[in-house]
Amino acid sequence: MRRLLQSSIATLQNISRIRRSTPAVSDGIRSFTVPFLRSIFSWQRPPSRRALDGVASTASQKAIRHADAWREMSGNASSAIKKNEVDPHHQITFDGKRVCIPWSEGVTSTYHNIWLRDNCQCSSCFHPITKQRLLNTFAIPESIKPESTEASEDGLTIKWSNDGHQSFYPWNWLHMHSYQPILEKTPSCHRFVWGREDIIDNPPMVAYGDVMASDEGVAEWTSKIKQFGFCFVDGVPVTPEATEELINRISFVRNTHYGGFWDFTSNLAKADTAYTDLPLGLHTDGTYFTDPPGLQLLHCLHHDGGGGESILADGFRAARILREESPEHYKTLSRVRVPAHSAGNEEVCIRPTFAIHPILNHDEATGELIQVRWNNDDRSTMDRWSSIDPDVGVFQFYDAIRKWNQIITRREVEYRFKLVPGRPMIFDNWRVMHGRTQFDGERRLCGAYINMDDFESRLRLTNMGREAVLQHL
Ligand code: OGA
Ligand code: ZN
Ligand code: ZN
Repeated sequence: MRRLLQSSIATLQNISRIRRSTPAVSDGIRSFTVPFLRSIFSWQRPPSRRALDGVASTASQKAIRHADAWREMSGNASSAIKKNEVDPHHQITFDGKRVCIPWSEGVTSTYHNIWLRDNCQCSSCFHPITKQRLLNTFAIPESIKPESTEASEDGLTIKWSNDGHQSFYPWNWLHMHSYQPILEKTPSCHRFVWGREDIIDNPPMVAYGDVMASDEGVAEWTSKIKQFGFCFVDGVPVTPEATEELINRISFVRNTHYGGFWDFTSNLAKADTAYTDLPLGLHTDGTYFTDPPGLQLLHCLHHDGGGGESILADGFRAARILREESPEHYKTLSRVRVPAHSAGNEEVCIRPTFAIHPILNHDEATGELIQVRWNNDDRSTMDRWSSIDPDVGVFQFYDAIRKWNQIITRREVEYRFKLVPGRPMIFDNWRVMHGRTQFDGERRLCGAYINMDDFESRLRLTNMGREAVLQHL
C-alpha cells in the first residue's frame, strides 16, 4: 500500500535479577524505566483490567505502572535469590556426559559437558567486547568432562580434564539458561489486545519532549508500542525534519523502493493511485516483502478538506474473535499461503522470496500468533492450492476472508480518528492494521518504516538495560 502514497517531494522475567546485578535499577535514574520493564517484560500476571485502567492518562499510566513495578520487583527479587541458590544438602555431580546442579527450590538441572564447555563465559572463550564466541567449538573433544568442580558463592568453576581450562558460570546464568528442565521463561511482553472501547477515550500517547530528552522517554514510547501495537506522540513540531528526528530516536529508517523517509501528498501530480483520495481499507503494509516493515510512522502535516479519517484495528484481537467464532476459518487463514506483489513502479517487482506466508502467522514452537499479513489489494493471483483439493480450497479461502473482513470492519474492532498535525501515530505493522477513509482537499503526510529487529533491539535495551539483555544471550 506504500505504493499508493509514495513520496512526492524528497524521498523479566527476572527483573529481580536485573535489580540484583544492576544496583542502578533501584535508584532514581532507572526508576522511570522500570514500570515499562515490568509491564512488558514480566509474565507473572496476565494483562488485567488494572493494566488497561492505566490507559486512563499518560500521567496515570506512569504512576500506576511505577508503583506496581516496585511491588512486583521486590517480590521477584526475594524469590529469585532463593531460586538461584544451590541446595546445600545435595552434591553437584558430574560424569562423562553431564553436570547436575541441585537447586534449593528442589529441582536439579542437567547440563551436558559439551554444552557447558561450548558456552564458557570466560574472556578467552567469549569476547568481552564483541559478545561473540572465540572458542573453537570443533576442537572440543567429544569425550569432554570435568576434572573437578568448585561451587563458590557466586557460581560454579569447572576445571576440564583435557586441557585444564577453567570455566566459570555464575549461578544466575546457569539458572536462567537451564534447559533440562527449563526453569525460567524468556522475557516476553504483555500485549493488551484491544477493541475500540478500550482505547477510544485515552489512546496510548507519549510526549514529544520526553522522547527527545532521554532514553527513558524512548523506553516509555517503545513499550507502549509493544503493548498496544500503536502509540501517538504529542507535541511534535509540524515539519518533516522534526518527524524524521523523532523516528530516529527508535532507529534508522528502513529504506525500500519507496525511499527512506517519505513526504507525500495525494494531489494526482503523478499518474499513480498514490496520488488519489481513495479510501484505503484496513491493511498491513509490505505483505509482498519477505520481512514486512515492523513499524510505520505517519504524521499528517496538513489537511484542509473533509474525510481522511484514519482507522486502526488490532489484528490480534480480530484473530481472537475469528478463532472463537469460526475456528475452521481461523485454520484456513493460518494455512493458505497468500502471494502478494508490488509492481506498480516500472523498475520493481517485489514478491516474497518464498511464497509461504499465510494471513495469520504463528510461532511453530509455541503456536502463538506472531504476525498478521493482510492487504487484499496487493494479493496476487492465487493459482497454487497446495495439497488442498482446489474445489474445497477456493471456497474455503473466500469464505474465510469474507468472515475476516466482516470481523475487522466491526464497529467495536475499528478505532477511527483524525490524524492531526503535531500528533503522529506509530504502529506495529505485524499486528495493527491501518486504513483511511476517502477525503477531499489537500492532505500531506510524512513518515517512515522501521525494521522489526531494530525496534525490538531498542525496546529491549531501553527497558531492560544492557546488562540484563546480555545475560539472556
Ligand atoms: C500508507 C497508508 C494511510 C493514510 O501510507 O501505507 O495506508 O492515512 N496511509 O493515508
Ligand atoms: Zn498502508
Ligand atoms: Zn573459557
